[in-house]
Amino acid sequence: MSITTKAAVAAFTVLAAAAHAQPSQPAPRSKPFGFGAAVTDSDLKRFTSPLPDGRGLPAGSGTVAQGRTVYAQSCASCHGEKLEGGSGDRLVGGRGSLVNNDPKKAPVKTVESYWPYATTLFDYIKRAMPFNAPGSLTDDQVYAVSAYILSQAKIVPEDATLDARSLAAVQMPNRNGFIPDPRPEKFPPVDKTPHTSAIGG
Ligand code: HEC
Repeated sequence: MSITTKAAVAAFTVLAAAAHAQPSQPAPRSKPFGFGAAVTDSDLKRFTSPLPDGRGLPAGSGTVAQGRTVYAQSCASCHGEKLEGGSGDRLVGGRGSLVNNDPKKAPVKTVESYWPYATTLFDYIKRAMPFNAPGSLTDDQVYAVSAYILSQAKIVPEDATLDARSLAAVQMPNRNGFIPDPRPEKFPPVDKTPHTSAIGG
């Protein structure tokens, strides 16, 4: 074999080896787009809120006394020892102050004076608080600290224990302070709760 032929054979061998090393084409998928995975109920749970009637709330419970400890450890630094506010919002007081015609009396918007449903309190704390470590509380701790805030607002008694059922039964002072939108619904109402809960359904 001449020098040139030898070189050509060697070059061919290298090319053939390289071609052989190419990964094989992925097999065509049965679905048109091959990315992602099916969303499970537990995935969805992180994105759905409980309804005012309690559907969607998890199992568990907490007392006012337990909530006092959670509050002192995880909330007071921002919301104040007496829930009066600080770098975080004031949480109690101001009841009745949202509706008055006295320009000298500023409305005080708090959980006590404004929020129509107690289930929102649970949901908001569970997802967003403590501000510096959202999602770090257990469901029992969230029930407990909700109970503590509601007791400081004199909405539930000092010896209250809250769970899915009793939290949904709490009547918030401003429950009827909202004006319903009189426009007719374009679509029939749908059940927006895709998951089961302690309440069932
Ligand atoms: C590091 C500071 C910080 C800590 C700790 C903290 N919060 Fe907050 N909190 C905030 C801030 C800031 C807001 C306002 C957030 C916003 O408007 O987006 C807020 C808002 C809230 C609200 C809504 C108030 C309203 O009327 O809109 C509630 C309820 C609440 N926090 C409860 C808690 C509870 C319960 C804890 C303890 C488990 C806690 N927070 C711990 C800073 C904090």
